[in-house]
Amino acid sequence: MCGIVGYIGELDAKEILVKGLEKLEYRGYDSAGIALGNEVGLTVVKEKGRVADLRSAVDWTIHSTTGIGHTRWATHGVPNQTNAHPHQSTSNRFSLVHNGVIENYQQLQKEHLHDVQMNSDTDTEVIVQLVEKFTKGGMKTEIAFRHTLSLLQGSYAIAMLDADETDVIFIAKNKSPLLVGIGEHFNVVASDAMAMLQVTDQYVELHDKEVVILRKEAIEISTLDGVIIERTPYTAELDMSDIEKGTYPHFMLKEIEEQSGVVRKIIQKYEDEHGELTIDTDVLTAINEADRLYIIAAGTSYHAGLIGKHYFEKIAGIPVEVHISSEFGYNMPLLSDKPLFIFITQSGETADSRQVLVKIKALGYPSVTITNSPGSTLSREADHTLLLHAGPEIAVASTKAYTAQVAVLAIVAYVAAKERGETVVIDLKRELAIAANAIQTLVDSKAEMKQIAHEFLAVSRNAFLIGRNLDYYVSLEGALKVKEISYIQAEGFAGGELKHGTIALIEEGTPVFALVTQKTVSLNIRGNVKEVVARGANPCIISMEGLEEEGDCLVLPKVHALLTPLAAVIPMQLISYYAALYRGCDVDKPRNLAKSVTVE
Ligand code: M6R
Repeated sequence: MCGIVGYIGELDAKEILVKGLEKLEYRGYDSAGIALGNEVGLTVVKEKGRVADLRSAVDWTIHSTTGIGHTRWATHGVPNQTNAHPHQSTSNRFSLVHNGVIENYQQLQKEHLHDVQMNSDTDTEVIVQLVEKFTKGGMKTEIAFRHTLSLLQGSYAIAMLDADETDVIFIAKNKSPLLVGIGEHFNVVASDAMAMLQVTDQYVELHDKEVVILRKEAIEISTLDGVIIERTPYTAELDMSDIEKGTYPHFMLKEIEEQSGVVRKIIQKYEDEHGELTIDTDVLTAINEADRLYIIAAGTSYHAGLIGKHYFEKIAGIPVEVHISSEFGYNMPLLSDKPLFIFITQSGETADSRQVLVKIKALGYPSVTITNSPGSTLSREADHTLLLHAGPEIAVASTKAYTAQVAVLAIVAYVAAKERGETVVIDLKRELAIAANAIQTLVDSKAEMKQIAHEFLAVSRNAFLIGRNLDYYVSLEGALKVKEISYIQAEGFAGGELKHGTIALIEEGTPVFALVTQKTVSLNIRGNVKEVVARGANPCIISMEGLEEEGDCLVLPKVHALLTPLAAVIPMQLISYYAALYRGCDVDKPRNLAKSVTVE
């Protein structure tokens, strides 16, 4: 959600912090701010809006070699300058940035801060005011910081400056991601390595309830009660070009165009030395020991999970349930005797999914995380991890992570089926390569999608996407893409279900996108199209080669029936992208959203 950066060293901190925030902005972009420390004390600059607004507000003449910064996605308090981070204590001695949610902030305020005038509506301010309160009571800063942390309930990644000790950044983490980066004569802190890749690729991961005292030449990690921890750094395997737009106007377009390469890379990464598809044997054993798989995910990853269920059941004969993570943890269904939990998450940081992981671990059940983010919380905390290898996904709208999830799920189901001695009718490696080519062909014809977006969505108030079988799942994902970046009310439906109520919404000219890639139900879905056309809908049929009819809007290159989602989603991603452009929307940073949703 929000992003944190911090620098302590010999160079001027301002540019490093602001550049870092620019890299993290996709995680939250309601407001941004920095606090700079020098011999005079702390200077805080914060602005509502984008990091660009912060950049214009910074006084570039201030010299400082220590600083912290934040880009915000509002949880407590509206997005404005007052609620922006860093938050300051009443005397301005302390400045603090925070990601996460402090669940007991009102209670802490009542118990300890009834005599303190709060400036903001945030839960975060309570933390910095508590530190000040305890130092005023005689505690040293580090003790006051630790004491404050011991009172907090909820999630936090925190970086704090003290005007009386500007050669230290006080850092803490619980349930929200945070890393420390190591340099020569400097150290940094960041909620994501990509923010500080500009200065270092050496990082140390932090675990929950750890505290770091960060200095220019020293990193001291300890538990909340002061036990020192030694941890070996790792090299962040990120390339600057992966996190830059290059010549693309938007990250979303870049990421859509990368998808054929991503599918090819996945084939390579999941191949053994004989060229056979393979997965980690521990994961295979876990799948084979389970009597039922429970796929847990949110948003786009949930949509990929629905396709995963189809693969596990149809290819490998393994029963699967797919659940929305925010529901599952608080309304757990009856579980089978030997469940295996599979978490699908691009970021590996989604709090809704993590709360399920924590609960099922407490019940002693095994887990696998399928993620694009090695080292992420869900990857570290699950028993096993399978990587998506899609490269960093920056646009808020997920595209290449979705195709990667579908491809990896197909591989896992396929390998499990072979291991179980099932008769497998698909040559998956070959068919994935064909699907990669189809994706490329579709991306190359993006001018057609632009035309479709113009014709159907440039001025529409709403839109429907329908499909049957696998196409239904893709219509859910397509509708999410349309909604989140173009703000058109779009709904994905099972074609046959529309007439049970929703068809009442069809009016003269309502756009209805129909996906026709499944031979077994192609006549049925075409029948459903006729039903909406009879009520005035403006249909756009996207069919697959071999199933096309005259008048279809677009014909997808032929891919195997099981892999049609990999092809069918591409036009919907591109149509959404162009619709958002026509409507003047901020494609990469749609309103109210953030890339990685680290609060429940
Ligand atoms: O990082 P995750 O895959 O766990 O994220 C889950 C959803 O928040 C995410 O897929 C979201 O729906 C996308 N922004 C949609 O494009």
